[in-house]
Amino acid sequence: MLSCRYAGMTALRGPGHKACRCASFPGVLVAVVGVKGGSGKSTTAAYLAEALGAMGFAVALADADPQGTLVEWEAMAEEMGQPFSVEVHPVPSVPMVRRVLPGVATAHEVVVADCPNRDVGVTEAVLAQAGFAVVPAPPGAEELRRATAAMALAEKAGVPARVLVTMVDRRSGLARQMAEALDEGGWPRFASHVRRLTKVAAAVGTRRPDDLADYRYVAEELVALAGFGARPTGEALGA
Ligand SMILES: Nc1ncnc2c1ncn2[C@@H]1O[C@H](COP(=O)(O)OP(=O)(O)OP(=O)(O)O)[C@@H](O)[C@H]1O
Ligand SMILES: [Mg+2]
Repeated sequence: MLSCRYAGMTALRGPGHKACRCASFPGVLVAVVGVKGGSGKSTTAAYLAEALGAMGFAVALADADPQGTLVEWEAMAEEMGQPFSVEVHPVPSVPMVRRVLPGVATAHEVVVADCPNRDVGVTEAVLAQAGFAVVPAPPGAEELRRATAAMALAEKAGVPARVLVTMVDRRSGLARQMAEALDEGGWPRFASHVRRLTKVAAAVGTRRPDDLADYRYVAEELVALAGFGARPTGEALGA
């Protein structure tokens, strides 16, 4: 029987959490979750995976969205001669999530899964195996409501989760308002946020997300939160 190498995973599971799944799932599955289109899930999944890979983790991406955003992005990046440094595994249905995802995790230390915005069944199937959930949300009242709905999905599954405020325009005060609203509502969030950057928008769907921008800080925070353990850093992360 495989044993869990990540003591932190156990610590992350709050009271009432289901039995530890570590015996069949040695890697940490990070689910990127949202109930709204265009909240930055695929972008966050790809950048986080690359950032974790740059930190020295053996990482894979799982594309659980039937839209196949990551699968297509990876194929295009390959065509452009800038392939991802991590594998992308398509798992676009509940049976695929159940059958394929545990095998991917067995071969990696971290798997980052991009969840669909509509198919709650697939998201729940991913969350059933997840050790942590990331809920990207751009600033805004409607985005806040959707983010809390996604956080509730993670909570229902017993998975620790954090909102990641993304696509932040520093010139507007919206990001601060969003952070304050999350804090007031008691919704845990990442201390770091992700700025809306032209270079990120330009990489999405076309090339490897190698200029990690703010995601290097998000990845460092995620490692601390999810207790993956210390890794040799190697060369400096991103540019
Ligand atoms: N940090 C960022 N800076 C600039 N543009 C961004 C950033 N993050 C995401 N975007 C842009 O926002 C759009 C939506 O992002 P993304 O595809 O990641 O959302 P999604 O939640 O996966 O959408 P869907 O629900 O359709 O799967 C994309 O065009 C992407 O280029
Ligand atoms: Mg997407």
